[in-house]
Amino acid sequence: MIKVDDEHAQLTIARVYQAGQEQVFRFWDELDDAGRAALLAQVETIDFRLLKTLVTKYVERPTPLPGTIRGGPGGASLVLEPPDVIELPKDDVSRARDAEARRRGLEAIAAGTVAPLLVAGGQATRLGVDGPKGLVPIGPVTGKSLIQLFAEQIRAAAARGGLASLPWYVMTSEATDAGLRAAFAEAGQWGLPADDVFFLKQRDLPAVNVRGKAILADKNRIATAPNGHGGLLLALSESGALEDMRRRGVEHVFSFQVDNPLCAVLDPVFVGHHVTAGAEMGTKVVEKKEPDEKVGLVVRRPRQPGLSVVEYSEIDEANRVEREEDGRLRFRAGNAAIHTFSVSFLERACALDLGYHAAQKKVRTVNRKGERIDPSEANGLKFELFLFDAMPHADPAIAQEIARQDEFSPVKNARGADTADTARRALIDRAARWIESAGGAVPRDDNGRPTHAIEIGPLTALDREAFEERFGEKPPTIDGDVAL
Ligand code: UTP
Repeated sequence: MIKVDDEHAQLTIARVYQAGQEQVFRFWDELDDAGRAALLAQVETIDFRLLKTLVTKYVERPTPLPGTIRGGPGGASLVLEPPDVIELPKDDVSRARDAEARRRGLEAIAAGTVAPLLVAGGQATRLGVDGPKGLVPIGPVTGKSLIQLFAEQIRAAAARGGLASLPWYVMTSEATDAGLRAAFAEAGQWGLPADDVFFLKQRDLPAVNVRGKAILADKNRIATAPNGHGGLLLALSESGALEDMRRRGVEHVFSFQVDNPLCAVLDPVFVGHHVTAGAEMGTKVVEKKEPDEKVGLVVRRPRQPGLSVVEYSEIDEANRVEREEDGRLRFRAGNAAIHTFSVSFLERACALDLGYHAAQKKVRTVNRKGERIDPSEANGLKFELFLFDAMPHADPAIAQEIARQDEFSPVKNARGADTADTARRALIDRAARWIESAGGAVPRDDNGRPTHAIEIGPLTALDREAFEERFGEKPPTIDGDVAL
């Protein structure tokens, strides 16, 4: 075992050896004091006991194989049912139902019992940007970042409820913490009081190679990844965020992901349905239209109180393609990753063992000489917890359908589907619909797309209703790019 003078550091090193991960010290003799200190500081933050358990489960005894870690007993296909969903309003009855939910949601927000919670710890590897994804410019005219658009929604939602501000919980990770904190500070939290932004940093776990050995990203740095959005539960309790919520009288949380600029943060209708149902957890769903769409599905499992989310690969062929008489897929409740939680459920959920998922990923590393390597194929396993795995434990849990074009356009990839461009397009299209429904005119091309970039800032109007209220008397005329 390598030796150091400091007794505490020696114990830390011993933990690494006990977990069979001593290869992380492979370049120890070549490192200077600063390099060694940096490696030891990182090692301190890693739960090597947990890593050992995960390696045993997914590498040494990988049954079933990573990627198919859940499933029915003996690998039998799962018996699933479609969930009950609060569907999009289609008649007077459902419109009245949603109007009542909206009223109750606005009431709960105005009472200060609902707080927004953003999960922004992801590494954004598919998008491939430098720095946190939340800082990517998305406003089609102003170039406002995702985070700024959310901050302005939160300010507007507070103002609508007659509140000076609202506490905003922001989960970061090693990959995003410094960048996000600096951006918030530089922008003066985009108008929110610094005291009302609570950062909580999730934990990282090492990525391991096929033999279960932690991969080195550099001579003195272990390649790690955040422990999945489900790491939120641990982060909430470790950071004191749950106590902070209690202190502030927060009873419900609206959680959303950093990559969806269309998300209606603190949507009063969703909050209202959650409150009315006395729900422990809620999820918004978008209609899956084609069997091949790769979206997680919200389902019901026999003998389970809550709802579950299954991967698209977990559903058997017959269920995957089955359609109802009206042509819609029978299993069509796509998880939009927008959730409500009751704080009491979160307190309980922190103690749950959600179970890790293992996924094969490309992990930057160094060769035996310490030279950097960018692998062209997956060379490592990353371990992640998924937030939606808490849902089967929630009783009751609700699912509410949303219109994809109004509320869901995530920024995932640099090219192809779900890019920053498709999200900007979706924002423009939605702005055009709001203007038209308030009686305004929007020039469109032969394909029906708006010919100008249009952006409606959250502080101008939070939603279609607010836009109509503000501009119904005198709808704007669009004759060029415009930010309202
Ligand atoms: P994704 O799973 O799409 O991951 O995260 P990502 O980091 O954005 O992108 P890839 O997979 O590396 O390309 C969905 C949401 O969950 C958050 C992300 O920040 C995003 O808001 N997330 C993901 C976390 O907060 N922590 C994690 O460990 C993983």
